[in-house]
Formats: sequence, structure tokens, C-alpha cells
Amino acid sequence: MTLAEINALDREAFTLAFAAVAEGSPWVAYGAFDDAPFATALELVAGFRAAIARAGAERQLDLIRAHPDLAGKVALSGELTAHSTAEQAGAGLDRLTAAQLARFEVANRTYLERFAFPFVVCVRGHTADSILDAYDARIANDLETETAIALDEVVKIIRLRVATLIDD
Ligand code: GUN
Repeated sequence: MTLAEINALDREAFTLAFAAVAEGSPWVAYGAFDDAPFATALELVAGFRAAIARAGAERQLDLIRAHPDLAGKVALSGELTAHSTAEQAGAGLDRLTAAQLARFEVANRTYLERFAFPFVVCVRGHTADSILDAYDARIANDLETETAIALDEVVKIIRLRVATLIDD
């Protein structure tokens, strides 16, 4: 889709077209439409960021929680969304060694126990080992800091997903 085509959509069509951009959370696309029309792809992403910022803390937590674990059960059973499948495979998470898989299992569990939401990171440019380093770096954060980081990562993921949908 071109920006002109996107700007011609009504809210319903826009929400449908961009539903998958925020993992399991079509309400983000619905809210981003408030800022239409968009002059650039960056403005479009800013619309998504603004919709998340306008949502309450509970909804923001739901958005973080809609993300599947990296190299987790859902990934191993092949039931990720198309976007997540491509992203996790892009970082090599579909071909981990047994030792790496075991480290992900511990990291996912430890992180979830501490923050009560899953570890979300925009994995573009990451390798399995650099993601595991990121777990180690973030686990000591306080809840408020980590919530803000997780939401920033969600927006980075949205930016990459939006880019796959826009023709220029
Ligand atoms: N970063 C990019 N995609 C994903 C995902 O599906 N889950 C998590 N936790 N982080 C991601």
C-alpha cells in the first residue's frame, strides 16, 4: 500500500489493514487512525505510538503481555503470528542449540517472575546471544523503567512491521 492508499482508508479498513502490526492488539491500529492522514511512514508510526501513550496502564500491560515468549512454547509449536515467526527466525531463534534453548527457558521464566510480563525486545539486528545479554542487562531494572523499555521495544517492532506494509 502507498501512503495515499492508506490515507484513503476509513477507520474500519485501516484497522483491518494494520491490525497485526501491534501483536494481538488491533485496538492500537484503531486508535492510530485518530491521527490520520499521515504525510510519512514516520508519522504513521507516531500515530501508533500516540495511541499506545493514550491508553491506560492496564491496556499498555495487555499489549506487552500479547507478545509471545522468544523461543518459547508457542514458537516451538509453530503457532506464532506471521510477523513473530519472521522476526524470531531472523534472529536465529528457530535454530538454537539445546544449551541456548535452556538459557532462553530460564531467562523467560526469571523475567516473567520479576515483572509479570514477557520479555519484549525488537530482535532485528540481534543474535540469540545478544538477546540473552539483553535479558541480563534489563533484569535488574525497576518495574517502571522496564515497563517503559518494553513499550519502546513494542513501538520499534511496530515500526518494522509497518515498513513491510508500505510501498514508497
Ligand atoms: N520481538 C520481536 N518479535 C517478538 C515477539 O514475537 N515476542 C517477543 N517477546 N519479542 C519480540
